[in-house]
Amino acid sequence: MDPIERIFEVMARGGKRLYGTREQVTQLAHGLQCATLAEREGASPALVAAALLHDIGHLLNPDEWAALARGEDAKHEIRGRDYLAQWFDDDVVMPVYWHVAAKRYLTATEPDYFDRLSPGSVRTLELQGGPFTADEAAGFAAEPYADDGVRVRRWDEGGKVVGAATPDLNHFRPHLESCLRT
Ligand SMILES: [Fe+2]
Repeated sequence: MDPIERIFEVMARGGKRLYGTREQVTQLAHGLQCATLAEREGASPALVAAALLHDIGHLLNPDEWAALARGEDAKHEIRGRDYLAQWFDDDVVMPVYWHVAAKRYLTATEPDYFDRLSPGSVRTLELQGGPFTADEAAGFAAEPYADDGVRVRRWDEGGKVVGAATPDLNHFRPHLESCLRT
């Protein structure tokens, strides 16, 4: 099957799940809202694709909610990175990988960032290790694609609006197609 068909199937099937246990938008609506915010800001097709797919690791893990209930971090950013790396290069894959570290970075470096987190993100921040120390933040900022991970993270916070209108998945097919490794 065509990779984009496979990805869209995962998004459409798993995307009916609510985003976390404490949010009222579905995973699919969340991804679409993030991609829409990215497109509106004039982000590159790779970054729009990363925004759309940043949480696909949640949808690929049937054990995710059980892990959360056990107080474990299921590392969805690693699952997402490894899945997407089958077809995409670092400009798509690494912002997906970094979007969790970017939350730890932003809560360490921007005093009011924590207040913008949704209840689910506050809960997972604890499991993910909490805000970075100053050294950790500096180390993260020096990584390739860290800045793109931070951009995805800001859209992540903005993409949890109940009932927000967005284009559908097919609207973003050209963005993904243009990034497929040849
Ligand atoms: Fe997200």
